Amino acid sequence: MELAAVKTSYRYWAPVYDFTFGRISQAGRRRTVDYINRRAGRVLEIGVGTGLSLDRYAPHLEVTGIDVSTDMLDKARAKVAEKHLTNVVRISEMDARALTFPDGHFDTVVAMHVISVVPDPDKVMEEMARVCRPGGEVLIVGHFARERGFLAALERLFAPLADVIGWHSDFALSRVLGAPGLSVTASRPVPPFGLFTFLVQRKDA
Ligand SMILES: C[S@@+](CC[C@H](N)C(=O)[O-])C[C@H]1O[C@@H](n2cnc3c(N)ncnc32)[C@H](O)[C@@H]1O
Repeated sequence: MELAAVKTSYRYWAPVYDFTFGRISQAGRRRTVDYINRRAGRVLEIGVGTGLSLDRYAPHLEVTGIDVSTDMLDKARAKVAEKHLTNVVRISEMDARALTFPDGHFDTVVAMHVISVVPDPDKVMEEMARVCRPGGEVLIVGHFARERGFLAALERLFAPLADVIGWHSDFALSRVLGAPGLSVTASRPVPPFGLFTFLVQRKDA
């Protein structure tokens, strides 16, 4: 998807997101944040969206969220203010392809349901790896294409509608592997029905 298409799509999604896709994808988001809460230090959430994860981060973490959609970010900022989330130190409008953070700045970099949406996933993976400290972790949650079966056919059917639905239904797992310095240390399916995958990649020390 081009950036303009992302912004248009998420302008429409923003008012209904929390009650639609946001609800379906809740289990993966919760499990991922619970995993992050066992870690320490600075967290960067790429494509933070309406901020559905923000109130779940443990207070000992320092959380930064970025996104390109003003409409989604307005919702995230409202949650931070309403819930007094003092450990969320920054919510910024920023393109994940060109992060303005220094190399190795974060202990954990996470993208939940984002990587199949961004215009240039290879560049985003490269940027996520760059801003992660050596020995830190890059986490991805998303839906990846199946190779065969009814669902694979459905994914291919919806693929041309990416600009309308807001993500690529036929996005291959291989697209998030192979970023410089990252090695996969865990991969598991998450509900509902194992529709999503939780992937942990560690940055070389
Ligand atoms: C499906 S939503 C996921 C939101 C949130 N992570 C969640 O789990 O609910 C995808 C988000 O990725 C954002 N996004 C897409 N391309 C981006 C980019 N290049 N840089 C930053 N955010 C981007 C969209 O604006 C949207 O908010």
